[in-house]
Amino acid sequence: MAKIAVLGHGVVGSGVVEVILSHAESLQERAKEEIVVKHILDLREFPELSYHNLFTKDFDVILHDDEVKIVVEVLGGVHPAYDFAKACLENGKSVVTSNKELVAAKGAELLAIAQKNNLNFLFEASVGGGIPIIRPISQCLAANDVTEIAGILNGTTNFILTKMITDKMGFDEALQLAQELGYAERDPAADVEGYDAQRKICILSSLAFGHHVYPETVHAEGITKITLEDVGYAKAWGGVIKLIGKVKKLPDGRLHILVGPMFVSNDSQLAHVDDVFNGIMVRGDATGDVVFYGKGAGKLPTASAVVADVIDCIKHFKARKYLYWEDSKEGMLVDYKTQLESFFVHINAEDVDAALKNAENSFGSITRIIRKSEQIGEAGFIVNEITEPVLEEKLAALTDIIVKGKIRLSSF
Ligand code: HSE
Repeated sequence: MAKIAVLGHGVVGSGVVEVILSHAESLQERAKEEIVVKHILDLREFPELSYHNLFTKDFDVILHDDEVKIVVEVLGGVHPAYDFAKACLENGKSVVTSNKELVAAKGAELLAIAQKNNLNFLFEASVGGGIPIIRPISQCLAANDVTEIAGILNGTTNFILTKMITDKMGFDEALQLAQELGYAERDPAADVEGYDAQRKICILSSLAFGHHVYPETVHAEGITKITLEDVGYAKAWGGVIKLIGKVKKLPDGRLHILVGPMFVSNDSQLAHVDDVFNGIMVRGDATGDVVFYGKGAGKLPTASAVVADVIDCIKHFKARKYLYWEDSKEGMLVDYKTQLESFFVHINAEDVDAALKNAENSFGSITRIIRKSEQIGEAGFIVNEITEPVLEEKLAALTDIIVKGKIRLSSF
């Protein structure tokens, strides 16, 4: 019998208990042991639940219970999740988490403690919810040199953008709907400002390239400034707007990492990843492109990935899963501002034709896009292969235009 503890009884924590109780027999078959939830840590009380007697408010009860060998951390946030996870790993307990904030901030350190103590620290659910992605990158694609990862990593923003694209819903209304449906994080900024996707691309980059990438070192833009006009221009261009997290290994070994809204061509598989779904493309030198698709958020998809990790821990009580990366190293990231990219630019001008002529003279060449229902005094165009600072400098020098916005073009 494997006795576990669950830290947190929120959306994911309650899902974990639900999956363990409802799938008891099949889980036992797969783990070759019965899985029993012995303690649940939460400051709230749940007298209405059949398992209300399992709740404790005292973490030390769990830490000092030698029968508990696996602790599931689904509290979210860095503290106290980090302190609890660290204490568990230092006291002979493997840790499973869905907490991307924790893994993105402290992954290298917790993996090192787990390794030192011959324990496991597993976090399949931290990226892509129910989509297998951590294990495929660390194991199934291990024979490849991964050169690039690009993905729609946040279900909430993908849901919002899908509503904007298909239902012409404004951003605020779509966000409210996402919150009502329980997709958004407690603090919607984590989703809509791109921080959630930023943490996830950091985890995938650390895993694929072997050194911890800290979120504060990665540039992230959210979708709060995206308008229905931008959506219309993307359509006229032949694509859609998606919030993309991407990392590319440059020929000199440095990583170019970025999170932001991008025009994605309809030819790309990622353009067809809609609603709350996530899609992650991993480019390997041997495999070419491998795409992972599924529900990236939600109680049961996430709980399913957590419980699968619990099974893996049970099967590896005396052996470590090979899942590891070193701490970050100096100079491993390239400054995104030095990289050439293509941009869509949305402008207002009194004399659009003259303004576009001036823009063409300044940039060498531009490609105009005309959206349906374009207003008088409005225009959109593409500038190719330019760094963002040069683009901004040149746009600022064009005194006859007002820049309404700019959005990167994705290259996959
Ligand atoms: N808020 C996150 C999302 C939850 O929308 O993708 C899953 O990490």
